[in-house]
Amino acid sequence: MTLNGDNKMTTCSAPGKIYLFGEHAVVYGESALACAVDMRTHVTAKKSGSIKITSKIGTTGLDFRKHAYVSSAIKKLDVKDVAVKITSDIPIGSGLGSSAAVTVATLSAINEEYSLGYVKEDIARMGHEIELDVQGAASPTDTFVSTMGGIVEIPSRKRLEPMDCGVVIGNTNKGATSKKTARLVKQVAVLREEYPEVINPIIKTIGSFTQKGMSLVSEKDYTSLGKLMNINHGLLDALGVGTTELSALVYAARDAGAFGAKITGAGGGGCMVALTDSPGKVASAISKAGGQAIITKFTKEGILKE
Ligand code: MEV
Repeated sequence: MTLNGDNKMTTCSAPGKIYLFGEHAVVYGESALACAVDMRTHVTAKKSGSIKITSKIGTTGLDFRKHAYVSSAIKKLDVKDVAVKITSDIPIGSGLGSSAAVTVATLSAINEEYSLGYVKEDIARMGHEIELDVQGAASPTDTFVSTMGGIVEIPSRKRLEPMDCGVVIGNTNKGATSKKTARLVKQVAVLREEYPEVINPIIKTIGSFTQKGMSLVSEKDYTSLGKLMNINHGLLDALGVGTTELSALVYAARDAGAFGAKITGAGGGGCMVALTDSPGKVASAISKAGGQAIITKFTKEGILKE
């Protein structure tokens, strides 16, 4: 939304994402396949007397502790007089790319409001730089998918059309913190240093799902995609990023007939994802197993100006 005159403001939104394949392995240069999902973060930017950031955690000025990603985005674009308001339906720190979505939506809203002239590729690149800065480690996956939408292969950035199959997310509502990704990436790195001959082949195998997965997405072969997701889940468990709660939701979804189910994102709590043609049945199984079920859909829309 853009209004003229004194009330001029710009709202942009950006989607969350799930990993079909490849989280953690992507940190070591392996391929990953990530899909934008129809849960969005909305950011409104308005010229103001000073910097003001408002979200459900409260109102601050430039605050690199409470509003790390938004503050970094404002600093990156070098604006001194912006009021930013954030609303979101993406759970924070749960493996659904909430930090990427708020970062690229903030960059876009300010870019539009101040007519800075950046294109989407610039937004994705700056978003990745900000995630690297705040988290210490981040692949470009989340920020690229959130900016562009669709299904994206990393590192090539090739885009596929979204799948027309049902997708259900199960949130354990456990372990979500803004530092979780960095901690789990570090944990895998330590395990890899300790047992390189064991962990490197696992990482390589995780990377190998994407190529096959891209053909299966084009062929709409959801049964085979599901089988590979199940194997990917087992390997994420082997890397030590699974939890009791995540496994309970993954197995509940599979028992309810999902094509496949796996952890999505860094793990250590957070969310799992299931592909299914019976979203209601899978969602109710996830709820019964103690998770918060979210029925959503894949989307081709990345950043949108509202
Ligand atoms: C986190 O959503 C996914 C990881 O692969 C880290 C990253 O790609 O930045 C664990």
